[in-house]
Amino acid sequence: MPLWNGRFKKELDQTTNDFNSSISFDSRMYREDIEGSIAHATMLGEAGIIESSEAEKIVTGLEQILNEIAAGTLEIDQSYEDIHSFVEGELTKRLGDTGKRLHTARSRNDQVALDIRLYLSHETQELVDSLRALLSVICNRAEENLEAVMPGYTHLQRAQPITFGHHLMAYAQMFLRDLSRLKDVKQRTEFSPLGSCALAGTTYPLERLRAANLLDFPFISRNSLDGVSDRDFCLELAAALSIVMVHLSRFAEEIILWCSWEFKFIELDDAFSTGSSIMPQKKNPDIAELVRGKSGRVFGDLMALLTVMKGLPLAYNKDMQEDKEAIFDAVDTVKMCLKAFTPMLDTMRVLPENMRRAAANGFINATDAADYLVEKGVPFRDAYKATGQLVALCIEKGLTLETLPIEEYQAVLPQFDSGVYEKINLEKCVADRKIVGGPAPQTVLAEIRRIRTMIG
Ligand code: ARG
Repeated sequence: MPLWNGRFKKELDQTTNDFNSSISFDSRMYREDIEGSIAHATMLGEAGIIESSEAEKIVTGLEQILNEIAAGTLEIDQSYEDIHSFVEGELTKRLGDTGKRLHTARSRNDQVALDIRLYLSHETQELVDSLRALLSVICNRAEENLEAVMPGYTHLQRAQPITFGHHLMAYAQMFLRDLSRLKDVKQRTEFSPLGSCALAGTTYPLERLRAANLLDFPFISRNSLDGVSDRDFCLELAAALSIVMVHLSRFAEEIILWCSWEFKFIELDDAFSTGSSIMPQKKNPDIAELVRGKSGRVFGDLMALLTVMKGLPLAYNKDMQEDKEAIFDAVDTVKMCLKAFTPMLDTMRVLPENMRRAAANGFINATDAADYLVEKGVPFRDAYKATGQLVALCIEKGLTLETLPIEEYQAVLPQFDSGVYEKINLEKCVADRKIVGGPAPQTVLAEIRRIRTMIG
């Protein structure tokens, strides 16, 4: 029997019931629903709105229901409309009239808004922890590769020398920002809407902050209509998670490139690769590809949420029931991706010789050769032009800037001398870029240490 049966003469049509029902996806919030009800009942008892003896019975009854669901001895009856109706129905079955007092000064509208906030606050904490674990693996792998010289790219063309450690740490910066975005969203999630009731608040003297604090929420919503119709925290979380997926998919894409034969900068562990059903030689980076592909789902979830909320009149509308599947999917997907990605990164084998070989070809020290001339007093634009001519000469002769004889240098510009070879040594090119944010091993190590203290 639905909660709202008083006004109705007929039972809901079965197909309509199935269409209307959310229990198949909101039962995952059973813990939050019950904890929210325990806080509400405790506060009702303390404020003298219901007898304290009845509040105690309600709390005990709810605790039992929670334990039984968690232990698997009480099954959630899927014929109820939603998890809120099921818990209240079960409580009333057990306590009779006392159970019916739980919903005093509450509506499912503020109840569901609270439940999602509680649920997402816990999930966001898990996401924060998973991001911390990823950051810690990135820092470790970067520290192992502080000296591994590789070409840095622009336009996917070899550009300037960096190290693999430095390249990895670029992702640490992205995930650090993601971490701070998630913590920020979590703060705005932890507001209790209880007391908003259906939309207009209540005449009962609820102690709203007390109920919030019982749930470890520091704040209460400040407008009853907004309390039940705000889903900004879902939008923000989906947006923050979409950005996490942008970062993961860029990282995944690079891993896919790096483990191709064309690059061979890394090799993925067998435990994180798959084979082909027909080509015996294949070792495919499926995990990285799936992470890249799953970004599409999360962006889709964000779009779905934005579209559901857009143009809704205040206050609650049933459209908002659609918030749950989208935000749950975004959270589940990102959690799964982080769980798969972190150990894959942790176990991949780095092949620094191949990176060094790639760095040796592609004239990635040309800027440094030009800078050498600048040190000799040549204006940068002239130095740039002369070095460009030298590169063309090397290509013609099948040489590199390191192997081009000094006479050839001097024929282009007499200011060159044999000091240029030291200047364009790739290890030195990297070591001299000590500027904050640069690839010099000591600079990168200092950044790794800074980030380690930040993630605890
Ligand atoms: N299942 C509903 C939801 O998720 C709960 C709130 C129902 N409120 C209502 N007025 N019908 O949105």
